[in-house]
Amino acid sequence: MGAGIAQVFAASGYQVSLYDVDQKNTQKGIEGIDKRLKKQVGKGSLSAKEYEEIMERLHLANEITAAQKADLIVEAVVEKMEVKQAIFAELDSLAPSHTVLATNTSSLPITEIAAVTTRPEKVIGMHFMNPVPVMKLVEIIRGLATTDEVYQAVYETTKKLNKTPVEVHDFPGFVSNRILMPMINEAVFTLYEGVANEEDIDQVMKLGMNHPMGPLTLADFIGLDTCLFIMETLHKGFGDDKYRPCPLLRKYVKAGWLGRKTGKGFFTYET
Ligand code: CAA
Repeated sequence: MGAGIAQVFAASGYQVSLYDVDQKNTQKGIEGIDKRLKKQVGKGSLSAKEYEEIMERLHLANEITAAQKADLIVEAVVEKMEVKQAIFAELDSLAPSHTVLATNTSSLPITEIAAVTTRPEKVIGMHFMNPVPVMKLVEIIRGLATTDEVYQAVYETTKKLNKTPVEVHDFPGFVSNRILMPMINEAVFTLYEGVANEEDIDQVMKLGMNHPMGPLTLADFIGLDTCLFIMETLHKGFGDDKYRPCPLLRKYVKAGWLGRKTGKGFFTYET
């Protein structure tokens, strides 16, 4: 998602530095942005000049010390608390004192990430939806210590990205995944219990409820490991068995069937 986030910032006039521990990922991210923008130029929804300007605003950072020049940092690393906390502690030591540290976490507590920094009042959740350049929503999650001033600044920035910000408080899954993931998990239970097959479950939700993608296709799109992780976060965070992950979801993840990214999930994809 990092590349998608970088794209929307650059397209809205911001100078953006992209950093990843593995430079191959940053390179891949820039190539993806380039490809998507060229497609837009081909369709006529973006001019060649705008394409050039957006690409010029994107910079590949070789070192995390690029944080020293940032006003806002949006982290989009793997959904592991210890990894996020290590990165936030490092960013906190590098970035100027005015810099806001945002996380794109899909369900981890903002307050717990903020706790490892010396500036919890400037730590906030900016939860983008996939695919980032297309989806309008950004959940803005206030940690326990996030100030109104920081919230307002991030809210205004989100509007400048041509996205719609929604204010959310820091509880497991926020709003999006607290509602979406139990629906996906229930679709997996429906398959597990033999009520209907994959195609038909998705067809019911697409044609019956006008969802753009069926829940199993959407699960494959998000990644089954991510879906399982979010269900576990809800289950643990609320201590309520209504959030127990379906055994079939666990089984697929154990098999390495993670959805689109591995070529196999509930459906099969060309990689
Ligand atoms: N990246 C960037 N742009 C993409 C894209 C991608 N992966 N996939 C499609 N698009 C763009 C296309 O280029 C096209 O753009 P134009 O209108 O400028 O031509 C536009 O989206 C529509 O694409 P298509 O006509 O090819 O396909 P579609 O109409 O079926 O739409 C979709 C594709 C937007 C992905 C749609 O199926 C959809 O909305 N699906 C549901 C997505 C969703 O629910 N996302 C939230 C997931 S949950 C999450 O992200 C949070 C979390 O924490 C897990």
